[in-house]
Amino acid sequence: MRERTLTIIKPDAVAAGHVGAIIQHLQREGFAILGVKRLRLTQAQAEKFYEVHRERPFYPSLVAFMTSGPVWVLALERDNAVAHLREVMGATDPAKAAPGTIRSLYGSSIERNAIHGSDSRENASLELAFFFSTHELVEA
Ligand code: RTP
Ligand code: MG
Repeated sequence: MRERTLTIIKPDAVAAGHVGAIIQHLQREGFAILGVKRLRLTQAQAEKFYEVHRERPFYPSLVAFMTSGPVWVLALERDNAVAHLREVMGATDPAKAAPGTIRSLYGSSIERNAIHGSDSRENASLELAFFFSTHELVEA
């Protein structure tokens, strides 16, 4: 079933010049890009976006990392988009990510892992609404 998901190309991958390669990788995987924004997350935005991890020991470091430079936020669409994006991203720790996955190719540590992807259809809807209004999502 055709569905939508949200990805963020994180500050490490943007700073390293991997945006073009990552977008090409996603398009080759059949994702249509319905919306794209380049922005720098505020402290408040990053805290809210990763609120589920507020009690985790890595939360302050994660928020500092995510606000450390510009990110690219993309609204994506394809069949089975949420699960397929998670597959194409690879495991959270790039050292454990399957060969050829985006995190394996472009991530450098469990924190600086190049890319975020929504982890459920419900969170995809919430995260898309966090960054885009409906009129900013243009069908392919
Ligand atoms: P994401 O939410 O960014 O797509 O990543 P994920 O689902 O694969 O992993 P999650 O458990 O949701 O963690 C969110 C992000 O926090 C950083 N992290 N650091 N130092 C650590 O042990 C640690 N664990 C997670 C990563 O940037 C991870 O993607
Ligand atoms: Mg997550």
